[in-house]
Amino acid sequence: MHRTRSRNCRTSRTHRTLAILLACLSALALPSSADTGVAAQAAAADTRYERVVPSRDGIGKRYMGREIAGVMGWEGAQWLERDSRAREERPELLLRALALAPGMTVADIGAGTGYYAWQLAKQVGPGGRVYAVDVQPEMISMLDSQMAKRGVRNVVSVLGSETSVKLPVASVDLAIMVDVYHELAYPAEVLDSIVRALKPGGRVVFVEYRAEDPAVAIKPLHKMSETQVRREATAHGLQWERSIESLPIQHAIVFRKP
Ligand SMILES: C[S@@+](CC[C@H](N)C(=O)[O-])C[C@H]1O[C@@H](n2cnc3c(N)ncnc32)[C@H](O)[C@@H]1O
Repeated sequence: MHRTRSRNCRTSRTHRTLAILLACLSALALPSSADTGVAAQAAAADTRYERVVPSRDGIGKRYMGREIAGVMGWEGAQWLERDSRAREERPELLLRALALAPGMTVADIGAGTGYYAWQLAKQVGPGGRVYAVDVQPEMISMLDSQMAKRGVRNVVSVLGSETSVKLPVASVDLAIMVDVYHELAYPAEVLDSIVRALKPGGRVVFVEYRAEDPAVAIKPLHKMSETQVRREATAHGLQWERSIESLPIQHAIVFRKP
């Protein structure tokens, strides 16, 4: 009996202590007005996306009718520097078609190891600049080493976030994404941030493996059709300018900010 009472007594003291602890914790967990702002933004963003069961190469999130592909991890970065790449993609054809001029500011979004960044840097010359943006710090450090190895001085690496390229407003003449857009976890937010970073009249170029062509041996979620790219880009006020179809396995779809 005594033992029971003493246990009851301990139990009620324990309950009181627990109640006080819980009250303190819930007070601590009360969102500040800044937190509610962030939560509201996240909720608004989420209404753009539909959750689905993830497919093998997807993240289980659909945007405008397609599932978003998983990000290529930095562990696979060697594939970006493979010897056969120049022959497979013919980057010189793309660069010629873009007609970049010395002194321009270009943003290579999702630059990876910088395979395109240094080639873009050559086109804009020492008076121009290439912002090389990536979301993986490991990619940024590989890119920095590549640029140092090549003696390239006009590439500025930028660690972006999943939702923003973090570039100065109205600072960029041309933004390019090579094999990137289909794997952006927040394509709408990133595209908004790119549009903000473009100068009026600036261009944004989507380079994607051609989904229309079954002979292009790339996983389906890592390819995009021209129709899909145009649907998504024009939803952000971008005007389609032209599609470059001279590349072996990709297409480059060019838009202009009005
Ligand atoms: C397939 S790799 C292509 C790299 C490079 N464009 C090339 O062609 O060599 C895709 C890159 O996009 C980057 N990426 C994914 N989401 C991103 C985001 N939200 N912002 C910036 N980079 C992103 C990845 O980290 C990865 O380096």
